[in-house]
Amino acid sequence: MSDNSLALKPVDTLTLDEAQAELARLSAEIATHDRAYHAEDAPLISDAEYDALRARNLAIEGRFPDLVRADSPSRRVGATPSEAFGEIRHSRPMLSLDNLFADEDVVDFAEGVRRFLGLPAGTVPVFTAEPKIDGLSLSIRYEGGRLAVAATRGDGLTGENVTANVRTIADIPNQLPAGVPDVVEIRGEVYMGRQDFFALNERMRAESGKVFANPRNAAAGSLRQLDPSITARRPLRFFAYAWGEMPRLAATQYDTVRLFADWGFPVNPLMVRCASVEEMIAHYHRIEADRAALDYDIDGVVYKVDDLALQERLGFRSRSPRWATAHKFPAERAFTVLKDIEIQVGRTGALTPVAKLEPVTVGGVVVSNATLHNEDYIKGIGQSGLPIREGRDIRVGDTVIVQRAGDVIPQIVDVVVDKRPETSAPFIFPTTCPACGSHAVREERGDGRLDAVRRCTGGLVCPAQQVEKLKHFASRNAFDIEGLGDKQIEFFHALQEPELRIRTPADIFTLERREAKSFKRLRDFPGFGATSVKNLFAAIEARRAIALNRLIFALGIRHVGETNAKILARAYGTWEHFEEAMVAAADKAGEAWTELNAVEGIGEVVADAVVDFFAEPHNREALDALLDEIAPQPMEAPTVVASPVAGKTVVFTGSLERMTRDEAKATAERLGAKVAGSVSKKTDLVVAGPGAGSKLAKATELGIEVIDEDAWLERVNGL
Ligand code: IVH
Repeated sequence: MSDNSLALKPVDTLTLDEAQAELARLSAEIATHDRAYHAEDAPLISDAEYDALRARNLAIEGRFPDLVRADSPSRRVGATPSEAFGEIRHSRPMLSLDNLFADEDVVDFAEGVRRFLGLPAGTVPVFTAEPKIDGLSLSIRYEGGRLAVAATRGDGLTGENVTANVRTIADIPNQLPAGVPDVVEIRGEVYMGRQDFFALNERMRAESGKVFANPRNAAAGSLRQLDPSITARRPLRFFAYAWGEMPRLAATQYDTVRLFADWGFPVNPLMVRCASVEEMIAHYHRIEADRAALDYDIDGVVYKVDDLALQERLGFRSRSPRWATAHKFPAERAFTVLKDIEIQVGRTGALTPVAKLEPVTVGGVVVSNATLHNEDYIKGIGQSGLPIREGRDIRVGDTVIVQRAGDVIPQIVDVVVDKRPETSAPFIFPTTCPACGSHAVREERGDGRLDAVRRCTGGLVCPAQQVEKLKHFASRNAFDIEGLGDKQIEFFHALQEPELRIRTPADIFTLERREAKSFKRLRDFPGFGATSVKNLFAAIEARRAIALNRLIFALGIRHVGETNAKILARAYGTWEHFEEAMVAAADKAGEAWTELNAVEGIGEVVADAVVDFFAEPHNREALDALLDEIAPQPMEAPTVVASPVAGKTVVFTGSLERMTRDEAKATAERLGAKVAGSVSKKTDLVVAGPGAGSKLAKATELGIEVIDEDAWLERVNGL
């Protein structure tokens, strides 16, 4: 039977073999249409025809559940592009950079480096200075001289596999010259030139009416295409400026990057070496002045310690190297009129004032909303309680200055009092929640002052908090439920029908069952069709197995963002273990509390917030209901650093002569040791220099191993 006649055969008459062939055909055909629709913005068939294909696929799968393909369209639903690409674990983390803004901060940065290294006062090591390209970073791994894999930065530890797309970028060689080491990982920035960006947008406007907001988004959107032939048609460029796994090939940053140029990679021509802080700052201002003449967007200058041996000694903080920093250009600003101040209620109840603006273009992007931070900010009072903007308050009707820096939410930074309408009045910040009417209060902080944030006391009773918590729960970095975006959450939350509405996270997962029992059908609501309902249910289904860190992040516990969620997930491994420990930690004299506080990266504020969350009966109830529906996946065990000091508690005492105290501590921590300030029974190793006193005595008394600085360096050298 030919493909076509099979396509017409009723589902209930298909044989097993025919069903298998038909599922394969449907998978390929639907994939073609998905691509045409999403990536090329050029659908080949009508929505109804497309729906029919999907429906047929589902019907066959319903009859032959064993034939469901790994790449079935019913499973593809809800897969975000990121998952569609497959993940790559970076051999070395891809770090980000700390930012600084003022020239004086460069002095502090260089001085901090000097002190860390214990160099003589008044000297600084040589730094390189180069433009900070506004694109997205990429790591390209070559094995045996051939391009093997390429990955985006992702969360720094794992990125998306974009190898096929990267092979289409002309700036990036597929083959390196003979003599290059077996494994080299070149890192740098993928970007789009400004002229190319304008031309691409013109083409896209004509073809689909959709355009990219800026060259950075255009570069990201072009690199993250499921179909490499689309990437190939986009004018992507590349600058090499760093590396991952690679033997050391030169003594300095500068010479290594030069080597990359010899291998055929574009490197930025504005990179220079600077022998003093003055030279660094001068180069920054030179680049800033030339900025508009460049054909690509840059958002600052990056300084790096040139000597690679020093880079190694300086090492890393959790997310960024100590040997490099970004000196950002000032944000872009524009004048406009403040039309209104709206109060939004966040998921933790924070009342945030949002400026509604006469739309204005700031650095190429149209801005009509901006944050006003909090009540004090509007009044002209800063974080420290002292006046800001010389005490000028902000009023509706005022002409204001909006500032936008990179991807940060635009903010109002100042007001032009001369242009203030005579009728204006100071803004009165509400003391009740605009969503639920509960009191909104400013809690007293530890230092006796009031918290800057006014919060609704309504808790879970407040519909705004409920909705925001749900939005967060379903959002991209949490449960990532496709088809359950902010708008849909608002819709489901507002529904009157108890069988269809969503008020708690568990409700999301019981929705399909409840709908099946209801007289009303979701597909009959405006905005929903049979297909979108089916897709939504499939997307929800696909998230029942959820990564532990995503689950912890999704709970929306105060102070627990993505990073802390990951730290906690790694520390506790499974949900059961985590939950049990957090409940037990309510006893602050107990072991669980001590253990929580000992988790590297978790401070008392975070620990308190997590414990409070689990102590709240409402939360426990909601969690129990949720856990009946989902299956949190255990977190893979953290990669244990293979080092002789991993897991040990080390104390440094006396004076150190070959390294600074900070450096010793950083090395120990990098190798998986914990550094303590005092000697106790839990201490495993004491490193004692000349002049060591009571700590050394105590260590001897307790029978703890004591070594000197040389022995320490011998143990950790080369690790
Ligand atoms: S060095 C270990 N150099 O800025 C340090 N980064 O904010 C690795 N970037 O993720 C980064 N131009 O995507 C470096 N000349 C440059 C850069 C640069 C742009 C990006 C990069 C990084 C981000 C950090």
